[in-house]
Amino acid sequence: MLTHKGTQPIKTERLLLRRFRVEDAQGMFDNWAKDEKVTRYLTWTPHESPEMTRQLLEDWCANYEKPDYYNWVIEFEKKTIGNISVVRLDEKDEWAELGYCMGCAYWNRGIMTEAAGAVIDYLFAEIGVNRVGIWHAVQNPGSGRVAQKCGLTFEGTRREFFKSNAGDFLDISYYGIIRRDWEARRGKREEA
Ligand SMILES: CC(C)(COP(=O)(O)OP(=O)(O)OC[C@H]1O[C@@H](n2cnc3c(N)ncnc32)[C@H](O)[C@@H]1OP(=O)(O)O)[C@@H](O)C(=O)NCCC(=O)NCCS
Repeated sequence: MLTHKGTQPIKTERLLLRRFRVEDAQGMFDNWAKDEKVTRYLTWTPHESPEMTRQLLEDWCANYEKPDYYNWVIEFEKKTIGNISVVRLDEKDEWAELGYCMGCAYWNRGIMTEAAGAVIDYLFAEIGVNRVGIWHAVQNPGSGRVAQKCGLTFEGTRREFFKSNAGDFLDISYYGIIRRDWEARRGKREEA
C-alpha cells in the first residue's frame, strides 16, 4: 500500500525541487512553457501568454491539498527552469509514471537526470511504490537517456502510440525500474 506524502521539497546537489507558486508563472512562461522546442514531444502546446500560465498554476496549486499529487518546479541557481511530476499513479499496482520538461537553455547539463533520480528515490523510499516508469517519443532520445541514466530498463516500443502537436503519430518507448533494481542500485551507491 502506498503512503502518500504529497509534493514535499527535495534538495539535490544543484537543485531545489519544490511546490509551484502562482508567482512562478512569468518564469515558467519565459523559461519553458512558451517554447515549441520544449513542447514538441509533449501532450500540450506552448502557452500563448503568462496569464495562461498563471491560470494553470492556480489549478496546480489548488491540487497540492491532495496527498497523492506530486508536481515539482525545478529551481536551479535561484531560477525556475523546469517541471517534474507524477503523470500517472496506480494505487492498486503501486506504480508511478514520471513526466518532465525544462527550458532548452539548460539542456544537456545532467539537470533532469539529477531531478528525476531524486524524485525516483523519493517515490521508492517515502511513498513506497514498487515501480517507476518513464515513456518518451523515439524521436526524442534525450528523454530516454535520462531514464537510462536513472537506472531504468528499456521495456519496448509501442508503434504510433502518440499523436504529436505537429500531428504525426510517434512511436513511444517505455522504460521502468522496479523496487529490487532500485534497492540494488542504492546499495551500490552507498558502497561507493
Ligand atoms: C528531455 C529533457 C528533459 C532532458 O533534460 P536534460 O537535463 O537535458 O537531460 P540530461 O542532461 O540529464 O541528459 C540528457 C542526455 O541525453 C543526451 N541527448 C540529448 N539529445 C540527444 C540526442 N538527440 N540523441 C541522443 N542523445 C541525446 C545527452 O547527451 C545526455 O546524455 P549523456 O549525459 O550521456 O551525454 C530536456 O531535453 C527537455 O526538457 N526536453 C523538452 C521536454 C521533453 O521532451 N520532455 C520529455 C518528454 S518524454
